[in-house]
This record gives sequence, structure tokens and C-alpha cells, in this order.
Amino acid sequence: MEVIIRPTAAAAADLVATLIDRAVRQRPDLVLGLATGRTMEAVYALLAERHRTQGLDFSGCRTFNLDEYVGLPPGDPNAYRYYMERHLFGRINIDRRRTHLPDGMAADLDAACAAYEQAIADAGGIDFQLLGIGHDGHIGFNEPLSALRSRTRVKALTPQTVAANAPLFDPPTRMPRRAITMGVGTILDSRRCVLLATGASKADILARAVEGPITAMVSASALQLHPRCTIVVDEAAAAHLQGRDYYRFIFDNEPEWKAFH
Ligand code: GLP
Repeated sequence: MEVIIRPTAAAAADLVATLIDRAVRQRPDLVLGLATGRTMEAVYALLAERHRTQGLDFSGCRTFNLDEYVGLPPGDPNAYRYYMERHLFGRINIDRRRTHLPDGMAADLDAACAAYEQAIADAGGIDFQLLGIGHDGHIGFNEPLSALRSRTRVKALTPQTVAANAPLFDPPTRMPRRAITMGVGTILDSRRCVLLATGASKADILARAVEGPITAMVSASALQLHPRCTIVVDEAAAAHLQGRDYYRFIFDNEPEWKAFH
């Protein structure tokens, strides 16, 4: 695990967009794991702009989103399919048949979860997984006590997650209480993962995930087991990290990061 601290949320999002940009240019048939949430909106805006002005080409990519609410049709303004269409897919050149989200409307949800795992395997696995973090430490919708080896399945959301996301629904009571999410094990199988966290409200949970013990109580702490995981944060989200000076030293001195200075 490596931690990169940028001065602002905008600079952190820019660095993540650049990592994705490079990965897509290096490998035009990249299998990209995607995340939703407010934090990612800045990243997707930058990718759309790079597509428009710098020829960033997504036509060969395949995408798999982390999660989707149970019971929301794709056209619902709160469905993650709708979010992706609005923030990314509708603004870049990607073939919709190559974009995948779990089917929260399936009559047989367990079968839909198994089919999602199979589709990821058929694509050859996820090359680059983008992640956010919830205030309860979730990645995707892997709420506390998600098994560290869990696969795609239906998960009941915590009251904390409902409180965080319900204001986005009209009325807030319309928010589903369950979602389909890739498992922690599914995420750990990705070849590279990048977690973006910004803002002071993420500082405490981020420190627990990065520097605390690996525990199913904080799903993001499982990323300590990932062979190639980069955590990108702004100063506000980095505030509770004990190792800040060391992380800055790495960013300032490692050749890999020179281009970002
Ligand atoms: C959401 C998503 C996560 C996301 C997290 C943080 O509910 N299921 O994938 O990373 O919660 O969201 P935000 O960026 O809005 O804080």
C-alpha cells in the first residue's frame, strides 16, 4: 500500500484521473472497475474532459461497477447506472454493451450476483479498480463485518450509510435498504486498485483503514492485503495519518511520482 497526499481535493482527483488516463493509453482494452459517490464526480469530469480535448479513447475498455441498489431500475435518477450515464458514460466514447453494473432488479438476486462474478472472470479479471470509502469504512457497499473473502452478493446497508446517502433521494425514505456489491475478495483480486478519499469527514475512517489493524469491521482495511494499492488523499482526509511525513517523502523522492510534481 502507498499513500499519496495532495494539497486539495481537486489535485487529488486530478492525480487519480491521470493514473486512469495512463492505464487506458497503455492498455486500450483495459478492464476498469468503477465506483460511484460524490468523491468520484470530479474524477469523471476530468476523464470526460480528457476524452474531449486530449483524445482519451475508451472504445476498447470494459467496465464493471462496484455496486447497485436493489429495486431501482437503471433509469431511476438514484440508480448507479443512471449516475454512471450522467457523469461518465454519456460523456465519453464507450460502448454501453461493454459497461456492467450488478442487476438490482433481477428476480433472482443470488443468480444475478453469480452472473456478475462470472462476467468479471470472462473479461479476464479487473485490471484497475477505482474505489471510494464510506464513513463506516465500506468499499463498494461492503458494510462492517463483510467477510474479507466475500464475493458479489446482496448486502444490507447500515443506518450510517442510509443517513449518508438518503438525502440524495426524494423523498429520503425512498432509499433502498439493500444493495448488490462486489465482495471484498472480488476487489482484492483486481490487479491494481486506487482509493480516493477527500475531505475532513473521511480523516478518521481513512486512518483506521490505512494504519489500523486489518479487520472486517473496516472493510477498507483489507486493502492492506492488496499487492498493488494506492491511496490518494487530500490534506484534509490525511489529517489523522501518523505516517504523513513518510508518505510525503515517498511522493517527493520516488521516480514514479516525479511527473506529478
Ligand atoms: C457510496 C458507494 C461507495 C462510495 C462511498 C463514498 O455509497 N457505495 O462506492 O465510495 O459510498 O461516497 P462519497 O464519495 O459520496 O462519500
